[in-house]
Amino acid sequence: MLQKQCLKTKRVLILASGDGSNFEAIVKYFQDKGLLVYDDAKTSLQKHIRCDVADKTSQHKVYIELISDKKDANVLKRAHRLNIKYHYVEFNNLETFLQNNILKKGQGFDLYVLAGFMRVLPKQILDLMEFDKNKIVNIHPSLLPEFKGKNAIERAFAAGVLKTGVTVHFVDENLDGGKILERCAFEVSALSLEELEAKIHALEHKIYPEIIEKLLFKKNVLVFGGGAREHALAFKIALSPYLAKLYLAKPNDGFKNLGKIIEFKDYDELLRRALECGIDILVIGPEAPLFEGLVDMFNAEGIKTIGANKAWARLEESKIFAKEFMANSPKNPIKTADYRVVNNIPEADEALNYFKAKGANVPVIKADGSALGKGVYLPSSYDDALMCAKEYLDGKFGDASRKILIEERLFGIEVSIMSLWDGNTLVSFPPACDYKRLLDDNKGPNTGGMGAYAPSKITPVQQKRIDSYLKKLECALKICGANFCGVVYSGLILTDSSKVFDGCDAANIDADNGVYVLEYNMRFGDPEIQALLELLDDGAGCDLLDIFIKMTQKRLCKSDLKFKNAVAYCLTLASKGYPVCPEKGAEISGLMAVKKHNCKIYFAGVKYKQNTSDSSLDFLNSLATNGGRVMSIVRSADKSNPEACIEAILDIYQTAQKIKYDGKIYRKDIGK
Ligand code: GRF
Repeated sequence: MLQKQCLKTKRVLILASGDGSNFEAIVKYFQDKGLLVYDDAKTSLQKHIRCDVADKTSQHKVYIELISDKKDANVLKRAHRLNIKYHYVEFNNLETFLQNNILKKGQGFDLYVLAGFMRVLPKQILDLMEFDKNKIVNIHPSLLPEFKGKNAIERAFAAGVLKTGVTVHFVDENLDGGKILERCAFEVSALSLEELEAKIHALEHKIYPEIIEKLLFKKNVLVFGGGAREHALAFKIALSPYLAKLYLAKPNDGFKNLGKIIEFKDYDELLRRALECGIDILVIGPEAPLFEGLVDMFNAEGIKTIGANKAWARLEESKIFAKEFMANSPKNPIKTADYRVVNNIPEADEALNYFKAKGANVPVIKADGSALGKGVYLPSSYDDALMCAKEYLDGKFGDASRKILIEERLFGIEVSIMSLWDGNTLVSFPPACDYKRLLDDNKGPNTGGMGAYAPSKITPVQQKRIDSYLKKLECALKICGANFCGVVYSGLILTDSSKVFDGCDAANIDADNGVYVLEYNMRFGDPEIQALLELLDDGAGCDLLDIFIKMTQKRLCKSDLKFKNAVAYCLTLASKGYPVCPEKGAEISGLMAVKKHNCKIYFAGVKYKQNTSDSSLDFLNSLATNGGRVMSIVRSADKSNPEACIEAILDIYQTAQKIKYDGKIYRKDIGK
């Protein structure tokens, strides 16, 4: 299959006043990649050429030009040596020069890069450079907003800061203002001023060209799925500066306006359309497409994916596969409940006798396969366990329960850990707590999730133990050659609440003392991720799409996930009858309350009311319920401010009260 691409040379104008080491680093970066073109005449005439790219090595090119406002600036010599077209333009003439020589000829640039340009650009020039479309970037040698302005390194050094770094940001009217794209920090520890300068410059030369490349070659992203989780993912991605265009597969009516919908009958058609649209990255929300091999299909055609391939989706799809994976590294097995695999009734008898003889609690019965979250049963007695085992083996969940696990029952605190895996590195979100039961005080049937908050209330000791477990997990994934790029969700139970911690030493196999894996899922948890996304520190340039891009390039780093010192809460509003037989079709009103209480809404089971067209102006009054979980209400607060946390929960509940539809149900104890 052929992927359509729009091959257009990207034009970059660099403005610099000084030495020009950043300028040279940028030029060399694109030169080394074989992307740099020198001939302006050709590139400026080149229009968008839409073509089929059979050869996947075909790439966009980059053309660079330089302006310096200092006649004797070293950057001009560098440009001459590097064969880059350059201009010396006095600052007072810059506006006219840009108008006459560059913009008038219809040769606007795709990106304006300030690299040591020692002037604040006036509004007229900002407008010419389309700053409102985020076309101007700057690099600053401090952790903005600290040390704005000139001599930032010297001033930070003189102030004796323990941490400093580099910030890349879009440019607006304010001195060193504008949205932050990346903030890279390091410890200053015993560096001389010269060493500090050298370190900062080396960091600049590394990150600036990479960010420029990402801004020039933005990504088309397709988000698959129609729940509140996918709404939250799509919402975050839509805000990314690295997004070209957002596409959606099977969104619900509550968020389909965030992107362009790709309609499809089957996965072949979805793939064909994705190739036509030039999708770069597919982000998969639910588990079914992972089990069905959607990732493998897309990867075979060169489209990157966030989600497990079919082989590794088995970690969720088969409980037996997951147990084998956990035992795989014999020196360093991942802790999980003792279990027996059972194929028939005599084996079930045998397994139950084994646990009885062990003096264990009545064990748990689990279907091996995926039973839509209903395949785990907690029997009240050994007789009950045998009865349940029989039902399962008789096909209560079809093929999913023809094989079962009989598993030791564990007691403790449950936490969910979402980790990102790029095939090499595992990076995790803070632990989250979800509320699986329908009713307050964890009563009633299991559901898809009635709420969540993050981070979980766990002790530092427990966190260290979880970190040790995550090291083991990363190691196990590496040893097993887990060749996918996606999410690993560890459902953990912390069985040991003792405060003693025996070290975080990898050689110490008890470092993960009391951390047991209950299950793996291979996708973001819904509703946990709605809360967790709130914790990403966007103010420090932590951008979800940027992280996904790094994952697809196998360049995920431990420091890529930066978190705010916040706590986030998520409440699910559901429909009467959920989870068995939810009512549908009730008109939803009161959604305006969301803004007043600073909450976010992510829609799940909703659809347009009859006779509502997609272009309805009154979107918030156009929705009706269409499923069990109707929406998530999300709000976060500063973690160090207990009053703010209480207020956040209050805001969520006031919003929940003001949103009205027949049959509305929700838990009253989320985060309390
Ligand atoms: C860099 O430190 C940059 O952060 C700041 O000016 C300096 C330019 O250095 N805005 P160079 O001219 O690129 O060597």
